[in-house]
Amino acid sequence: MTITNVKHSKQIDRAMEAIEEEKKGLDQAQYRLNYHFMAPANWINDPNGLIQHNGLYHLFYQHHPYSVDWGPMHWGHATSSDLINWQHESVALAPSEEYDYEEGNEDIGCFSGSAVSNGDEIALIYTGHVIGKSPKEVQAAAFSKDGVHFNKAEKNPVIKSPPEGLTEDFRDPKVWKHNGSWYMVVGSSINGNGAIPLYKSKDLLEWTYMGVALNGDAAQGDMWECPDLFPIGDKHMLVVSPMNMTDGKNIIMVGEMDYEKGKFIPESVKEIDEGDDFYAAQTFEDERGRRILIAWMDTWKTDFPTKDEGWAGAMTIPRQVVLRDDQKVKLLPVAEIEDLRENHTSYEPLHLSSNELVDINLQETLQHSYEIMINFNLTEANSSGRAGLQLRTSADGTERTEIYLNVKTKELIVDTTLSGEKSHKSIRKAKVDVENNLSLRIFVDTCSLEVCTTDGETWITQRIYPDPKSMGINVFTESTEVLIEEIQTWTLKKVID
Ligand code: FRU
Repeated sequence: MTITNVKHSKQIDRAMEAIEEEKKGLDQAQYRLNYHFMAPANWINDPNGLIQHNGLYHLFYQHHPYSVDWGPMHWGHATSSDLINWQHESVALAPSEEYDYEEGNEDIGCFSGSAVSNGDEIALIYTGHVIGKSPKEVQAAAFSKDGVHFNKAEKNPVIKSPPEGLTEDFRDPKVWKHNGSWYMVVGSSINGNGAIPLYKSKDLLEWTYMGVALNGDAAQGDMWECPDLFPIGDKHMLVVSPMNMTDGKNIIMVGEMDYEKGKFIPESVKEIDEGDDFYAAQTFEDERGRRILIAWMDTWKTDFPTKDEGWAGAMTIPRQVVLRDDQKVKLLPVAEIEDLRENHTSYEPLHLSSNELVDINLQETLQHSYEIMINFNLTEANSSGRAGLQLRTSADGTERTEIYLNVKTKELIVDTTLSGEKSHKSIRKAKVDVENNLSLRIFVDTCSLEVCTTDGETWITQRIYPDPKSMGINVFTESTEVLIEEIQTWTLKKVID
């Protein structure tokens, strides 16, 4: 073992001791989630290094093991055989070298990146970040044969500085293989717009710069974090997390990749999820050929009331990315989510006249984590008015979260303005393509809400922090009639600690 690895493994031992200590008592915390991935304790942000390697799924993530606040970045690690039950593993990467560590400097660490299977090994490619250094961000690699202990490469940093003309913000490498060569895109910016420089390599250690694969426009933020470029069907998709984009956080583009010229040519673009709490999405292809996406179910812009309990940050449910008709991007909850289901209930069709509120009386069964499938038949709906549900409702109805369709504007709306004192108050709106029908799947956990149209086209993800006693579920109409053709519900099992 080299000196490098001794230093690294000492930092990992320290981090693991801290986590053992910090996780004590957390099983009593009221907002711990039941089926969304969280760290054993303390701070997490982006998912990193998503991969299925030799059958096993790996989820790495940005982690600060010493505190509920962001700090020197480590890579936490968990594994799973089914994408829903996760086992915590030893911290995979800790700051330890001059390119990712500096004594006394708190703004350092192993920033986001990706994983690839390199023969029997897993290779992690990440950004070494040391604020105050020039350049502050470089790309580094680490390898593991057992999938748990990672050795940082002697040749690090494998990319020592950003290409000329790009800013010092140069992070979050995403690596994939095409025709026997490795390719990497990195998040960066040129002249105040997002950009993704592209590199090519034979061995993950020597990288050749191929130019900027895509430069965003002024409406798409001033720096692109966490780029992810991948083939799907006959097309390629690009996911980026733009900084400072007005009302946008994570976009997905469909287009063509010209590997000869090193250019990605976008043909369409859309927001992946219209909620407030969705950022730094990353995808991977699993061994069944599915393209799966997981995002941080928070953002830099919202508060973290769970810090008071000793933890902050979680991941969305895994969503399968599907491309239809070469341009339509859909995200479907992975089929494995259905294995969480228990206690099925199904309602008879329910006709609501205008201005009705009906308690569907399921709070005792469903508690805090459940799925609802609901279908609104709108053939009799007035051209104005709204119809939807209220969740996590208090006995007197003053605390509630509303999910509804505005019939006139054809918008799906999630309103958290009354979701509880600690909740981020907002009204998120997404255009939906509805004619006579709105069909929704709604995933509720202790302090989260993911709503999607059943066709997977529209998603709104919100963290909410209602009083644990607020558990009521109502359906309602305002200035319109509606036929609710289907209400099915399931409790979703607790599988996460
Ligand atoms: C995105 C991000 C990345 C960076 C990481 C640091 O949320 O800012 O660009 O690598 O978080 O933790």
